[in-house]
Amino acid sequence: MVAERIDGKAFAAGLRGQVAQEVARLKEEHGLTPGLAVVLVGEDPASQVYVRSKEKMTVEVGMNSYAHRLPADVSQGELISLVRTLNADRAVNGILVQFPLPKGLDQQQVIETISVVKDVDGFHPQNAGRLVAGMPGLVPCTPLGCMMLLKDRLGDLSGLNAVVIGRSTIVGKPMAQLLTNASATVTVAHSRTKDLPEVVRRADIVIAAVGRPEMVKGDWIKPGATVIDVGINRIDAPEKGEGKTRLVGDVDFAGASQVAGAITPVPGGVGPMTIACLLANTVTATCKANG
Ligand code: GUN
Repeated sequence: MVAERIDGKAFAAGLRGQVAQEVARLKEEHGLTPGLAVVLVGEDPASQVYVRSKEKMTVEVGMNSYAHRLPADVSQGELISLVRTLNADRAVNGILVQFPLPKGLDQQQVIETISVVKDVDGFHPQNAGRLVAGMPGLVPCTPLGCMMLLKDRLGDLSGLNAVVIGRSTIVGKPMAQLLTNASATVTVAHSRTKDLPEVVRRADIVIAAVGRPEMVKGDWIKPGATVIDVGINRIDAPEKGEGKTRLVGDVDFAGASQVAGAITPVPGGVGPMTIACLLANTVTATCKANG
């Protein structure tokens, strides 16, 4: 059996198209142009790539993009002060501070300073709490994108066994919560989990979000399972030439493709969905802010 390849890139393009239509409607009917502020601190190369891509796609769907670049040695006070200025700026509907922050800066304080209604990352404890309580709020972009792909393929998730590998605040925890809210039976696995292959073998849905290249092997996968690979890891690729690298996920794609029913590739799977959901969240925040 060869797994169906879940085309996140195409799905995300469709979602961005819907966002662009909604942005056009907000402009025409309400004279509103949603604005997204993106703050990048320091010069981490991967973060620079992500942030440029977010800014480009924000403009492509017709929204305003406000870029803020701060040096790696910025003080916590200056960063917090910028966030407060953005909170008060009526043209800004969404605020994203790219993580990880350089050493010495307190990520949690930044998250808690962002206005709950502009928290398009969905990381603020109030939004996290709303998700647990099953109340409407802003939901973290990567898990939201994974849910869209899962529902598109599987429809109703109720009663399915889902394993989330990784318990981060950005992906693992909200992912488990969304699956629980969709009535799946959810296991959260992590570095202390005993016999991880056996746990994964029981799952109809596998979400891999650990940041370890190709850790999940093909023979861990239940035949026919749906595999969503959140990992984006850069590894050496000597076969492409000296000094060359390539991107791989947390799942051994070649091995898992022989067993799974469907699987997301890396790149072109979850990654594009994250940005599309960020844009969708910015529209949601704009609509909420304006009644
Ligand atoms: N770094 C990696 N993923 C994310 C994300 O979804 N949001 C932010 N702010 N930083 C990230």
